[in-house]
Amino acid sequence: MAIAEFLHNPAVGVGTTGITILLGTLIGGVTFSGSFVAFAKLQELMTGDPITYPGQNAVNAVLFVGTLAVGAGALGAFGAEPTTMFYVFTAAALVLGVLLVIPIGGADMPVVISLLNSYSGLAAAAAGFVIGNMVLIISGALVGASGLILTKLMCKGMNRSLANVAFGAFGGSAKVDRSQIGKRPVRSADAETVAAELGYANSVIVVPGYGLAVAQAQHELKKIADLLEERGVDVKFAIHPVAGRMPGHMNVLLAEADVPYDKLYDLDEINNDFPNTDVVLVVGANDVVNPAARDPNSVIAGMPILDVDKARRVIVMKRSLSPGFAGIDNDLFYMDHTLMFFGDAKESMQELIKELRELP
Ligand code: TAP
Repeated sequence: MAIAEFLHNPAVGVGTTGITILLGTLIGGVTFSGSFVAFAKLQELMTGDPITYPGQNAVNAVLFVGTLAVGAGALGAFGAEPTTMFYVFTAAALVLGVLLVIPIGGADMPVVISLLNSYSGLAAAAAGFVIGNMVLIISGALVGASGLILTKLMCKGMNRSLANVAFGAFGGSAKVDRSQIGKRPVRSADAETVAAELGYANSVIVVPGYGLAVAQAQHELKKIADLLEERGVDVKFAIHPVAGRMPGHMNVLLAEADVPYDKLYDLDEINNDFPNTDVVLVVGANDVVNPAARDPNSVIAGMPILDVDKARRVIVMKRSLSPGFAGIDNDLFYMDHTLMFFGDAKESMQELIKELRELP
Protein backbone atom coordinates (compact mmCIF):
# COMPACT_ATOMS: atom_id res chain seq x y z
CA MET A 1 0.00 0.00 0.00
CA ALA A 2 2.86 2.32 0.90
CA ILE A 3 4.61 1.42 -2.37
CA ALA A 4 1.45 2.07 -4.39
CA GLU A 5 0.99 5.41 -2.66
CA PHE A 6 4.56 6.45 -3.46
CA LEU A 7 4.32 5.39 -7.11
CA HIS A 8 1.06 7.32 -7.31
CA ASN A 9 2.80 10.46 -6.04
CA PRO A 10 6.63 10.15 -6.37
CA ALA A 11 7.09 13.83 -5.53
CA VAL A 12 5.65 13.37 -2.03
CA GLY A 13 8.81 14.93 -0.51
CA VAL A 14 9.90 15.07 3.12
CA GLY A 15 6.93 15.27 5.48
CA THR A 16 4.72 13.02 7.57
CA THR A 17 3.32 11.18 4.53
CA GLY A 18 6.72 10.67 2.92
CA ILE A 19 8.31 9.39 6.11
CA THR A 20 5.37 7.10 6.83
CA ILE A 21 5.58 5.67 3.31
CA LEU A 22 9.26 4.89 3.84
CA LEU A 23 8.56 3.39 7.27
CA GLY A 24 5.77 1.18 5.90
CA THR A 25 7.92 0.05 2.97
CA LEU A 26 10.97 -0.63 5.15
CA ILE A 27 9.12 -2.61 7.83
CA GLY A 28 6.95 -4.35 5.23
CA GLY A 29 9.98 -5.28 3.09
CA VAL A 30 11.95 -6.66 6.04
CA THR A 31 8.90 -8.62 7.22
CA PHE A 32 8.12 -9.97 3.75
CA SER A 33 11.56 -11.32 2.87
CA GLY A 34 12.38 -12.26 6.50
CA SER A 35 9.21 -14.36 6.65
CA PHE A 36 10.22 -16.21 3.48
CA VAL A 37 13.57 -17.08 5.02
CA ALA A 38 11.89 -18.18 8.27
CA PHE A 39 9.48 -20.34 6.22
CA ALA A 40 12.35 -21.88 4.25
CA LYS A 41 14.20 -22.68 7.49
CA LEU A 42 11.16 -24.21 9.16
CA GLN A 43 10.27 -26.27 6.07
CA GLU A 44 13.90 -27.37 5.85
CA LEU A 45 14.11 -25.91 2.32
CA MET A 46 17.37 -24.36 3.51
CA THR A 47 19.68 -25.10 6.41
CA GLY A 48 18.14 -24.40 9.80
CA ASP A 49 21.63 -23.68 11.21
CA PRO A 50 22.65 -20.07 11.75
CA ILE A 51 24.39 -18.65 8.64
CA THR A 52 27.10 -16.35 9.93
CA TYR A 53 30.16 -14.60 8.56
CA PRO A 54 32.73 -12.22 10.07
CA GLY A 55 31.52 -8.66 10.54
CA GLN A 56 27.89 -9.67 10.01
CA ASN A 57 26.43 -7.12 12.41
CA ALA A 58 28.59 -4.35 10.91
CA VAL A 59 27.38 -5.27 7.39
CA ASN A 60 23.75 -5.20 8.57
CA ALA A 61 24.29 -1.84 10.31
CA VAL A 62 25.91 -0.33 7.19
CA LEU A 63 23.10 -1.67 5.00
CA PHE A 64 20.52 -0.25 7.39
CA VAL A 65 22.11 3.21 7.40
CA GLY A 66 22.57 3.03 3.60
CA THR A 67 18.89 2.10 3.21
CA LEU A 68 17.86 5.14 5.25
CA ALA A 69 20.10 7.36 3.09
CA VAL A 70 18.56 5.95 -0.09
CA GLY A 71 15.14 6.54 1.48
CA ALA A 72 16.08 10.18 2.04
CA GLY A 73 17.04 10.28 -1.63
CA ALA A 74 13.62 8.95 -2.58
CA LEU A 75 12.08 11.88 -0.71
CA GLY A 76 14.07 14.33 -2.82
CA ALA A 77 17.30 14.72 -0.86
CA PHE A 78 20.59 14.77 -2.85
CA GLY A 79 18.62 15.83 -5.97
CA ALA A 80 18.23 12.17 -6.99
CA GLU A 81 15.44 10.79 -9.15
CA PRO A 82 12.79 9.75 -6.53
CA THR A 83 11.29 6.71 -8.25
CA THR A 84 14.66 5.04 -8.94
CA MET A 85 15.80 5.73 -5.39
CA PHE A 86 12.54 4.31 -4.07
CA TYR A 87 13.03 1.07 -6.03
CA VAL A 88 16.56 0.78 -4.60
CA PHE A 89 15.17 1.53 -1.12
CA THR A 90 12.55 -1.25 -1.47
CA ALA A 91 15.15 -3.74 -2.72
CA ALA A 92 17.47 -2.83 0.17
CA ALA A 93 14.63 -3.41 2.67
CA LEU A 94 14.05 -6.88 1.18
CA VAL A 95 17.76 -7.72 1.36
CA LEU A 96 17.86 -6.48 4.96
CA GLY A 97 15.02 -8.86 5.86
CA VAL A 98 16.99 -11.81 4.48
CA LEU A 99 20.24 -10.78 6.18
CA LEU A 100 18.57 -10.27 9.55
CA VAL A 101 16.96 -13.71 9.63
CA ILE A 102 19.69 -15.96 8.17
CA PRO A 103 21.92 -15.81 11.28
CA ILE A 104 19.12 -17.12 13.45
CA GLY A 105 18.95 -20.83 13.87
CA GLY A 106 17.18 -23.79 15.34
CA ALA A 107 15.30 -23.25 18.54
CA ASP A 108 15.46 -19.44 18.28
CA MET A 109 13.09 -19.29 15.32
CA PRO A 110 9.86 -18.97 17.38
CA VAL A 111 11.05 -15.63 18.74
CA VAL A 112 11.82 -14.39 15.24
CA ILE A 113 8.48 -15.52 13.87
CA SER A 114 6.68 -13.72 16.64
CA LEU A 115 8.78 -10.57 16.05
CA LEU A 116 8.10 -10.67 12.28
CA ASN A 117 4.43 -11.06 13.08
CA SER A 118 4.62 -7.94 15.20
CA TYR A 119 6.47 -6.09 12.40
CA SER A 120 3.69 -6.98 9.97
CA GLY A 121 1.25 -5.19 12.29
CA LEU A 122 3.50 -2.12 12.43
CA ALA A 123 3.78 -2.11 8.61
CA ALA A 124 -0.02 -2.27 8.37
CA ALA A 125 -0.37 0.60 10.87
CA ALA A 126 2.13 2.69 8.86
CA ALA A 127 0.14 1.94 5.68
CA GLY A 128 -2.96 3.06 7.57
CA PHE A 129 -1.32 6.44 8.27
CA VAL A 130 -0.33 6.76 4.61
CA ILE A 131 -3.86 6.30 3.27
CA GLY A 132 -5.58 7.80 6.33
CA ASN A 133 -7.43 4.59 7.20
CA MET A 134 -8.28 4.42 10.91
CA VAL A 135 -9.24 0.71 10.84
CA LEU A 136 -5.84 -0.21 9.42
CA ILE A 137 -4.04 1.98 11.97
CA ILE A 138 -5.87 0.48 14.94
CA SER A 139 -5.75 -3.14 13.80
CA GLY A 140 -2.09 -2.79 12.76
CA ALA A 141 -1.21 -1.24 16.12
CA LEU A 142 -3.02 -4.06 17.93
CA VAL A 143 -1.20 -6.75 15.93
CA GLY A 144 2.11 -4.93 16.44
CA ALA A 145 1.62 -4.47 20.18
CA SER A 146 0.32 -7.98 20.87
CA GLY A 147 3.13 -9.41 18.73
CA LEU A 148 5.67 -7.47 20.77
CA ILE A 149 4.17 -8.69 24.04
CA LEU A 150 4.26 -12.26 22.73
CA THR A 151 7.86 -11.76 21.58
CA LYS A 152 8.81 -10.54 25.05
CA LEU A 153 7.13 -13.56 26.67
CA MET A 154 8.89 -15.91 24.27
CA CYS A 155 12.23 -14.19 24.85
CA LYS A 156 11.71 -14.92 28.53
CA GLY A 157 10.83 -18.54 27.71
CA MET A 158 13.96 -18.89 25.56
CA ASN A 159 16.12 -16.87 27.95
CA ARG A 160 16.97 -14.29 25.25
CA SER A 161 16.87 -10.53 25.58
CA LEU A 162 14.86 -8.47 23.11
CA ALA A 163 18.05 -6.58 22.18
CA ASN A 164 19.54 -9.90 21.05
CA VAL A 165 16.57 -10.42 18.79
CA ALA A 166 16.51 -6.88 17.37
CA PHE A 167 20.16 -7.02 16.38
CA GLY A 168 20.03 -10.59 15.13
CA ALA A 169 23.06 -11.42 17.20
CA PHE A 170 21.85 -14.73 18.49
CA GLY A 171 21.58 -18.29 17.33
CA GLY A 172 25.32 -18.72 17.77
CA SER A 173 27.59 -20.39 15.30
CA ALA A 174 28.18 -23.57 17.22
CA LYS A 175 29.02 -26.43 14.89
CA VAL A 176 26.61 -29.30 15.30
CA ASP A 177 27.87 -32.85 14.79
CA ARG A 178 24.83 -34.82 13.67
CA SER A 179 26.76 -37.89 12.57
CA GLN A 180 26.37 -39.63 15.94
CA ILE A 181 22.64 -39.03 16.42
CA GLY A 182 20.89 -42.26 17.33
CA LYS A 183 24.13 -44.29 17.23
CA ARG A 184 24.62 -44.78 20.97
CA PRO A 185 22.95 -47.66 22.86
CA VAL A 186 19.78 -46.94 24.84
CA ARG A 187 17.56 -48.93 27.21
CA SER A 188 14.17 -49.54 25.69
CA ALA A 189 11.07 -50.80 27.45
CA ASP A 190 7.72 -52.29 26.46
CA ALA A 191 4.27 -51.23 27.61
CA GLU A 192 4.20 -53.80 30.42
CA THR A 193 7.43 -52.50 31.98
CA VAL A 194 6.37 -48.87 31.60
CA ALA A 195 2.98 -49.62 33.17
CA ALA A 196 4.72 -51.17 36.20
CA GLU A 197 7.12 -48.22 36.53
CA LEU A 198 4.22 -45.75 36.46
CA GLY A 199 1.66 -47.76 38.38
CA TYR A 200 3.91 -48.45 41.38
CA ALA A 201 5.30 -44.90 41.60
CA ASN A 202 4.23 -42.39 44.24
CA SER A 203 4.73 -39.35 42.03
CA VAL A 204 4.69 -38.93 38.25
CA ILE A 205 5.31 -35.77 36.24
CA VAL A 206 4.15 -35.82 32.63
CA VAL A 207 6.07 -33.63 30.16
CA PRO A 208 4.15 -33.18 26.91
CA GLY A 209 5.83 -31.92 23.74
CA TYR A 210 5.24 -31.47 20.05
CA GLY A 211 4.97 -35.25 19.48
CA LEU A 212 1.82 -35.36 21.63
CA ALA A 213 0.19 -32.90 19.23
CA VAL A 214 1.38 -34.87 16.19
CA ALA A 215 -0.01 -38.12 17.61
CA GLN A 216 -3.19 -36.41 18.88
CA ALA A 217 -2.86 -38.60 21.94
CA GLN A 218 -4.12 -36.10 24.54
CA HIS A 219 -7.27 -38.10 25.36
CA GLU A 220 -5.24 -41.29 25.90
CA LEU A 221 -2.84 -39.31 28.09
CA LYS A 222 -5.72 -38.07 30.24
CA LYS A 223 -6.96 -41.66 30.57
CA ILE A 224 -3.51 -42.73 31.78
CA ALA A 225 -3.40 -39.88 34.31
CA ASP A 226 -6.85 -40.92 35.57
CA LEU A 227 -5.83 -44.56 35.91
CA LEU A 228 -2.70 -43.57 37.83
CA GLU A 229 -4.62 -41.26 40.15
CA GLU A 230 -7.10 -44.06 40.84
CA ARG A 231 -4.08 -46.03 42.06
CA GLY A 232 -3.11 -43.17 44.38
CA VAL A 233 -0.25 -41.84 42.24
CA ASP A 234 0.30 -38.06 42.40
CA VAL A 235 0.23 -36.88 38.75
CA LYS A 236 1.30 -33.44 37.56
CA PHE A 237 1.89 -31.97 34.10
CA ALA A 238 4.97 -29.80 33.45
CA ILE A 239 4.45 -27.22 30.70
CA HIS A 240 7.48 -25.66 29.02
CA PRO A 241 6.75 -22.20 27.54
CA VAL A 242 7.90 -23.21 24.04
CA ALA A 243 6.83 -26.87 24.02
CA GLY A 244 5.02 -27.67 20.78
CA ARG A 245 4.97 -25.24 17.91
CA MET A 246 3.02 -22.26 19.20
CA PRO A 247 2.58 -20.45 22.49
CA GLY A 248 0.12 -22.27 24.72
CA HIS A 249 0.11 -25.31 22.39
CA MET A 250 0.26 -27.85 25.22
CA ASN A 251 -2.26 -25.97 27.39
CA VAL A 252 -4.79 -26.02 24.55
CA LEU A 253 -4.15 -29.68 23.81
CA LEU A 254 -4.56 -30.75 27.42
CA ALA A 255 -7.60 -28.52 27.95
CA GLU A 256 -9.19 -30.30 24.98
CA ALA A 257 -8.80 -33.55 26.92
CA ASP A 258 -10.23 -31.97 30.11
CA VAL A 259 -7.00 -32.15 32.08
CA PRO A 260 -7.75 -29.87 35.07
CA TYR A 261 -5.88 -26.58 34.90
CA ASP A 262 -4.58 -26.92 38.45
CA LYS A 263 -2.62 -30.02 37.39
CA LEU A 264 -0.60 -27.92 34.91
CA TYR A 265 2.62 -26.38 36.22
CA ASP A 266 4.88 -23.85 34.51
CA LEU A 267 8.60 -24.45 34.27
CA ASP A 268 9.42 -22.14 37.19
CA GLU A 269 6.80 -23.75 39.40
CA ILE A 270 7.84 -27.36 38.85
CA ASN A 271 11.55 -27.46 38.11
CA ASN A 272 12.50 -27.94 41.76
CA ASP A 273 10.16 -30.94 42.05
CA PHE A 274 12.03 -33.23 39.64
CA PRO A 275 14.71 -34.47 42.11
CA ASN A 276 11.89 -35.67 44.40
CA THR A 277 9.86 -37.31 41.65
CA ASP A 278 9.75 -41.06 41.07
CA VAL A 279 8.97 -41.11 37.36
CA VAL A 280 8.88 -38.50 34.61
CA LEU A 281 6.91 -39.46 31.51
CA VAL A 282 8.14 -37.45 28.53
CA VAL A 283 5.57 -37.64 25.75
CA GLY A 284 6.86 -36.47 22.37
CA ALA A 285 9.05 -33.77 23.91
CA ASN A 286 12.70 -33.42 23.05
CA ASP A 287 14.38 -29.98 22.96
CA VAL A 288 12.56 -28.75 26.06
CA VAL A 289 14.11 -31.55 28.13
CA ASN A 290 17.54 -31.58 26.47
CA PRO A 291 20.35 -31.19 29.04
CA ALA A 292 22.53 -29.82 26.19
CA ALA A 293 20.99 -26.43 27.00
CA ARG A 294 23.33 -26.35 30.01
CA ASP A 295 26.35 -26.56 27.69
CA PRO A 296 27.45 -23.04 26.70
CA ASN A 297 28.60 -24.35 23.28
CA SER A 298 25.26 -25.88 22.34
CA VAL A 299 22.92 -24.24 19.81
CA ILE A 300 20.26 -24.26 22.51
CA ALA A 301 22.62 -22.92 25.19
CA GLY A 302 20.84 -20.85 27.79
CA MET A 303 17.34 -22.04 26.87
CA PRO A 304 15.62 -22.94 30.14
CA ILE A 305 14.75 -26.63 30.20
CA LEU A 306 12.65 -28.87 32.37
CA ASP A 307 15.20 -30.67 34.57
CA VAL A 308 13.67 -34.11 33.99
CA ASP A 309 17.05 -35.82 34.11
CA LYS A 310 17.09 -35.14 37.86
CA ALA A 311 14.12 -37.44 38.50
CA ARG A 312 14.70 -41.01 39.71
CA ARG A 313 13.36 -42.59 36.51
CA VAL A 314 12.69 -41.03 33.10
CA ILE A 315 10.49 -42.67 30.47
CA VAL A 316 10.58 -41.12 27.00
CA MET A 317 7.81 -41.85 24.51
CA LYS A 318 8.74 -41.13 20.89
CA ARG A 319 9.08 -43.07 17.66
CA SER A 320 12.86 -43.07 17.24
CA LEU A 321 16.03 -41.35 18.40
CA SER A 322 15.48 -38.55 15.87
CA PRO A 323 16.22 -35.04 17.04
CA GLY A 324 13.53 -32.45 17.71
CA PHE A 325 13.08 -28.98 16.23
CA ALA A 326 16.61 -27.77 17.08
CA GLY A 327 18.11 -30.72 15.20
CA ILE A 328 20.49 -31.88 17.92
CA ASP A 329 20.98 -35.12 19.82
CA ASN A 330 19.63 -35.48 23.33
CA ASP A 331 21.85 -37.02 26.04
CA LEU A 332 18.75 -37.68 28.14
CA PHE A 333 17.93 -40.69 25.94
CA TYR A 334 21.23 -42.40 26.76
CA MET A 335 21.27 -41.91 30.51
CA ASP A 336 21.26 -44.94 32.82
CA HIS A 337 17.97 -44.05 34.44
CA THR A 338 16.15 -43.39 31.15
CA LEU A 339 13.88 -45.91 29.45
CA MET A 340 12.87 -45.33 25.83
CA PHE A 341 9.32 -46.43 25.04
CA PHE A 342 9.42 -46.35 21.24
CA GLY A 343 6.35 -45.93 19.06
CA ASP A 344 3.68 -43.49 18.00
CA ALA A 345 2.50 -41.81 21.22
CA LYS A 346 -1.16 -42.66 20.61
CA GLU A 347 -0.59 -46.34 19.86
CA SER A 348 1.91 -46.68 22.74
CA MET A 349 -0.57 -45.10 25.14
CA GLN A 350 -3.38 -47.39 24.03
CA GLU A 351 -1.14 -50.36 24.91
CA LEU A 352 -0.20 -48.67 28.17
CA ILE A 353 -3.84 -48.17 29.15
CA LYS A 354 -4.46 -51.88 28.60
CA GLU A 355 -1.44 -52.82 30.73
CA LEU A 356 -2.35 -50.36 33.51
CA ARG A 357 -5.84 -51.82 33.74
CA GLU A 358 -4.35 -55.28 34.21
CA LEU A 359 -1.77 -54.16 36.76
CA PRO A 360 -2.42 -55.72 40.19
P1 TAP B 1 10.64 -31.15 19.66
O1 TAP B 1 11.95 -30.84 20.27
O2 TAP B 1 10.36 -30.62 18.31
O3 TAP B 1 10.51 -32.75 19.65
C1 TAP B 1 9.32 -33.36 19.33
C2 TAP B 1 9.56 -34.85 19.32
O4 TAP B 1 8.29 -35.47 19.11
C3 TAP B 1 10.45 -35.33 18.20
O5 TAP B 1 11.75 -35.59 18.65
C4 TAP B 1 9.74 -36.55 17.64
O6 TAP B 1 10.58 -37.69 17.74
C5 TAP B 1 8.54 -36.73 18.55
N1 TAP B 1 7.34 -37.12 17.81
C6 TAP B 1 6.88 -36.65 16.66
N2 TAP B 1 5.76 -37.29 16.27
C7 TAP B 1 5.51 -38.20 17.25
C8 TAP B 1 4.48 -39.18 17.45
N3 TAP B 1 3.50 -39.38 16.56
N4 TAP B 1 4.54 -39.94 18.56
C9 TAP B 1 5.54 -39.78 19.47
N5 TAP B 1 6.53 -38.88 19.33
C10 TAP B 1 6.50 -38.09 18.23
O7 TAP B 1 9.44 -30.69 20.59
P2 TAP B 1 9.42 -29.95 21.99
O8 TAP B 1 10.27 -30.67 22.99
O9 TAP B 1 7.97 -29.72 22.28
O10 TAP B 1 10.15 -28.59 21.73
C11 TAP B 1 9.58 -27.60 20.92
C12 TAP B 1 10.61 -27.09 19.94
O11 TAP B 1 9.93 -26.34 18.94
C13 TAP B 1 11.61 -26.16 20.59
O12 TAP B 1 12.87 -26.29 19.98
C14 TAP B 1 11.01 -24.79 20.32
O13 TAP B 1 11.98 -23.77 20.32
C15 TAP B 1 10.46 -25.03 18.93
N6 TAP B 1 9.36 -24.12 18.56
C16 TAP B 1 8.46 -23.77 19.50
C17 TAP B 1 7.45 -22.90 19.16
C18 TAP B 1 6.50 -22.53 20.25
S1 TAP B 1 6.04 -21.03 20.36
N7 TAP B 1 6.09 -23.42 21.09
C19 TAP B 1 7.31 -22.43 17.84
C20 TAP B 1 8.23 -22.87 16.87
C21 TAP B 1 9.27 -23.73 17.26
P3 TAP B 1 10.38 -38.95 16.77
O14 TAP B 1 10.42 -38.43 15.38
O15 TAP B 1 11.50 -39.86 17.12
O16 TAP B 1 9.03 -39.53 17.12
